[in-house]
Amino acid sequence: MQPMNAAIASFLAHAKIEVPLVCGAMYPCSNPELVAAVSEAGGIGIIQPIALTFVHKHDFREGLRLIKRLTSKPVGINVIVEKSAKVYEDRMKAWVDVALEEGVRFFVTSLGDPKWVVEKAHAVGGVVYHDVTERKWAEKALASGVDGLIAVNNRAGGHAGTRSPEDLLVQLGDLGVPLLAAGGVGNEADFKALLDMGYAGVQLGTRFIATPECRAHADYKNAIVGARDTDIVLTDKISGVPVAVIATPYILKTGTKAGPLARLLLRGRKTKHYMRMFYSVRAIFQLRDASLHGVTYKDYFQAGKSVEGIEAVEPAGDIVRRFAAAAGFQQEVVS
Ligand SMILES: Cc1cc2nc3c(=O)[nH]c(=O)nc-3n(C[C@H](O)[C@H](O)[C@H](O)COP(=O)(O)O)c2cc1C
Repeated sequence: MQPMNAAIASFLAHAKIEVPLVCGAMYPCSNPELVAAVSEAGGIGIIQPIALTFVHKHDFREGLRLIKRLTSKPVGINVIVEKSAKVYEDRMKAWVDVALEEGVRFFVTSLGDPKWVVEKAHAVGGVVYHDVTERKWAEKALASGVDGLIAVNNRAGGHAGTRSPEDLLVQLGDLGVPLLAAGGVGNEADFKALLDMGYAGVQLGTRFIATPECRAHADYKNAIVGARDTDIVLTDKISGVPVAVIATPYILKTGTKAGPLARLLLRGRKTKHYMRMFYSVRAIFQLRDASLHGVTYKDYFQAGKSVEGIEAVEPAGDIVRRFAAAAGFQQEVVS
């Protein structure tokens, strides 16, 4: 066992887990079986409420109860608090209340002001970690009372950041709360390197799509296993802000830039919220179809540069145990 630094110990205590590894929320890929498998192996799986209900067709509370039947260990939930997702706000608040009733105590917030989530979570002893890409967002989230930060770097899947993991650690390392890294981790060497660098834990996404537990189509999983980091491109055609995707023939054919009218409307003070809303509603359908139906659906396979380290589809629990062993958190590896 390596000696554990105080930041890692503090994150493990917050999340009540054994391995400082988070399977981050993924729309549309976070199905209950995947979330539960990561938690059961000692990390923590994060529920994505829209994926749970809209893509995987579970009533929210029943979905949580299914996860609880699969594992008795802690799971977390992702709360997107962005203003342009206002249409979801009441729904999100209701979901958070149900999650608290069902015993969820770990929250990962992204994109807006996490204050209301902090208030609800802290009232019952829960904790909130906020996704950030810059110091100014980190300071705002800390002013709203978050307990930890997740530094989303320029290698991440989903909405990638712009800075390297090293740069983010320098920018955010002195803020006095546990700092997790998100982005670019495909294998155990990447995982260990970020912990050795000083991060308190690592949030992964893409690596867990290529697992039997994830219900994504085999075409999507095979595309991840076959891709190199140079195959990952950023497109703003999905949500109006850059999203990391595999450069499939469809992406290469249609390009990665929003059209001139969309760009203009996305910049306008009054129009940008409507444009973002339009993009997010459209994206919800496109990403679901690409994930569930594969390449015949010409759409988008979201993935980060962590594809470089991903060489096979393998069970989520094996991944957690192998990464944990490599970083000195567990001696045994289940093959
Ligand atoms: C397909 C996909 C969907 C994602 N969806 C979300 C999401 O709904 N909410 C969120 O906060 N992060 C989302 N993310 C980001 C992940 O939670 C995680 O931070 C990121 O995947 C880490 O980078 P990696 O893919 O290189 O491991 C998504 C990532 C991917 C790959």
